[in-house]
Formats: sequence, structure tokens, C-alpha cells
Amino acid sequence: MPSEKVDSVTTVGRRAFVDDSVLDIEWGRVFRPSWQLLGFAGEVREPGDYIVRTLGRDEVVVVRGEDGTVRALHNSCTHRGTRLCRASLGNTAHLRCSYHGWTFANDGRLAGVPALRSAYPPDFDRAAHDLPAARVVSRRGFLFATWDAEAPELEEYLGEIAWYLDALLDCGAGEWEVCGPPQRVRARGNWKIPTDNFAGDGYHMRTTHRIALDQGIYGDTLADGTRGRAGTDLVGVNIATAGGHSVRAGYVVEDGHSLDDRDPAAPQFPGYPPERWAELAAAQTPEQVRFTSHCEVAHGVVFPNTVFLSVAHDRAVGTDDDPLTRYLVVRSHVPIGARETECLYWTLVPTAMDAEWRRRSYRFQARTQSAGGILFEMDDFENFARIDAALARSAPGRAGPVDLTLGTGRTTAAPGFPGPGHAETGTFSEHNQRAFYRRWAELVGELP
Ligand code: FES
Ligand code: FE
Repeated sequence: MPSEKVDSVTTVGRRAFVDDSVLDIEWGRVFRPSWQLLGFAGEVREPGDYIVRTLGRDEVVVVRGEDGTVRALHNSCTHRGTRLCRASLGNTAHLRCSYHGWTFANDGRLAGVPALRSAYPPDFDRAAHDLPAARVVSRRGFLFATWDAEAPELEEYLGEIAWYLDALLDCGAGEWEVCGPPQRVRARGNWKIPTDNFAGDGYHMRTTHRIALDQGIYGDTLADGTRGRAGTDLVGVNIATAGGHSVRAGYVVEDGHSLDDRDPAAPQFPGYPPERWAELAAAQTPEQVRFTSHCEVAHGVVFPNTVFLSVAHDRAVGTDDDPLTRYLVVRSHVPIGARETECLYWTLVPTAMDAEWRRRSYRFQARTQSAGGILFEMDDFENFARIDAALARSAPGRAGPVDLTLGTGRTTAAPGFPGPGHAETGTFSEHNQRAFYRRWAELVGELP
């Protein structure tokens, strides 16, 4: 899938963030043809394990059948429509409806109908009443799904962004384990507001997260003696790939130096133990190492609503004596309505790291960028709620559209960047947000 020019969308009308009629259009044109993250294979390890999630506007039971296949079944009885599964997770061979007792096997087949022989017509078509099942693909343990039979295969849908996801995962030198059920929180504001933040917003760090940074939340000095400067003056690279996906990476390089000055023979992986760096480099391709080496933070979007964030630091939050770690969190931003979003957070930890490092990794994520995070998340959510409140109050036509021009003409193309996509160097840029909204606008079309 070729790279594309991404800078053609520089504004978005305000009603796109507050109007339920826009969300109705998005359900059909944005979410229906897209692949969305439901969770992780590690959440449904055994036959019968299930989790209840949302796919587009529908609730689904994500369940591993007796045959080992993971399916996403519509959580609505095919008789009168009753919600079948009310628990959020569990293990079951069958789903039995609480109204009249229709029973479905965990592969979606209608297995039992009370009084079938005595009360239903002889030609009752049981198979026609199986639960509708979405397409589900497990990719490196990520469970993506779509209702759209015509959607491209997942690998084609992901295109170039898969290279970056793989690089972040390969940097862990092995498998990744998902920590427990996801945290969930409902946030005020449209689903696109936190999502475009994750697409590439390094700009807000200096104001929104100033207090966190001033507290030395990322520590001051990396293990090799170089300065840790998360967020404020990292060398930023913004990469947009075809399909509205994007990633922003922030690199620690010494003052007066550029990314090209990194020694390829001595890669550094902030947050990982220095004595493991050679092993981590060996687990990656040389091109991946050029992306991951010296990378202190990386975050991005798999269009439309899956986001990821990898952050290093050298001291655990609130203490001076915990040594370094790094976290990877994957999130889904699910619309509840035009003005409310449910955020699900999965923390992933590499099994190649020792148990103490993994514990610190989870704790660092949980304390900062999670539903109960004490700093970053609360600061961000406060802004998202303020955006929502102000946009919702604006009379139509009162104010102009939201602006996405940051970095236009100010960033530098990065033709030698090792990964695919359209890469630009520049710490403050809305390059990636423009790519996100460009894809969104393509799908939504003209709003009535
Ligand atoms: Fe489910 Fe009747 S609604 S059995
Ligand atoms: Fe933030």
C-alpha cells in the first residue's frame, strides 16, 4: 500500500464532535468498514472463555469455541432480541436466553429451542437463527474484528502501520502478556478527541502535562548518563501511513545532535535494562533498530479508534529508588454517544523481562496513563471535557472549525527514515492528525 500525501485536511467542523447525527453517519461509514480491536487472545485462552465487548454500535460476545476458534457473536437473542450475556467475562459452553430459553452453543449455533417439535412449524429453520458472527483475526494476540464481509483482509487494512506495531513488539524480544482484564472508564467528549491526541499530539505536553514533567515523573537521567527529556524537547518524528494510521516517536539525542548521529553499533533502548540492549537489538531487524533505538516515547493510532503508547522512564512514579522500566498500553476509544467515549486500556508486558521489571512496567502505566492514573490521564480528560462543553454550547456558525495547521511548512521530510509511510521530523506538528482526519473525511463524505 503506497504512502500518500496527507496534509490536505487542515480544519474539521465543530459539529463533527458533538452531533449525534454525525455519529450515526460514522457508525455506517467509518466503523462498519473498519477493523476494530476487541481485546487480546490472552483474555480468552481456554475453550468457553468469553469477554463482552463492543464492535461498532453492537455488543458482541468474544468467545473461544470448543474448536479453539475465537468468534465475535452478536449479543442479542435471535428470537425477540434479548441481551444474552450480562456478565462481562466468564466461561461457558452455551449462552441461554433469559426470556424464553433459547440456547446457543459457544460457536453461535442455535442449539436448543424449548417446545421446538410441539409448537414450531415443522419447517422451522434453526440454522437461520444462529447468532450473527463478525470476522475476527488474531494478529500477534491482538483480536481485531469487523462486521463488513467486504472489508479488506486485516493485513491489507493495516498496511504500513503494521511495520511500526511489529517493531515495538519485537523490541521486547519475545511474546507479550496482557495484564488482566482491561481497565475501563467513560470519558466526556467525542471519540475523535482523545484519538487525535494519541495520533501525534506532542504539542500539549508543555502545558497540559507541565506539572507532571516538573515533578520529574520520567526521571532526569537515563542509565547511560544522557538526559531524559520526555515530551518537552525530544526529537520528534511524525509518520502517517495510508489508511489514516499514524505513529509519533520521540527520541533522546544529545544536544546539538540529530537522529543520524546515533551510533548504529551501540543502540539504546530507554527503559529496558542496558545489559539486555544487545539481546533486544538482535531480536529486531536493522531497520527496526533504527526506529526503536533511543526512542523514549512512541504513540499512534490504528484507524479509527485503536491507539497505542510506549513510554520509558528511569524511576517509578513518586519514588526515587525504583530503577528503570517502560510500558506499552493499547487502548480502544468506543463511542457511547457523540459526546461520550468509553476507553479500554490493556497493558502489555514482554515475557522476556524478569518478573520485577514487568511489575514495575504495569505499575508505571497504571499510575500515570490509565483510568486511575494520577497525572497524565486526569490532565488529558479535563481538557477533553472542556472541549466537549465548549463545542456543545457553541451556536451553529458562531465559531470556526477546529484548526490542524500546526507544523505546516515547518517540519522537514525525513526521507531516510527506516520505516514506511510519510515521515516528517519536527517536534510540534499536526501532520498525523491531518492524516487521521483526512481518512475520516474520505469515509464520512459531505455532511448533510
Ligand atoms: Fe430469547 Fe425469546 S427472546 S428466547
Ligand atoms: Fe496527554
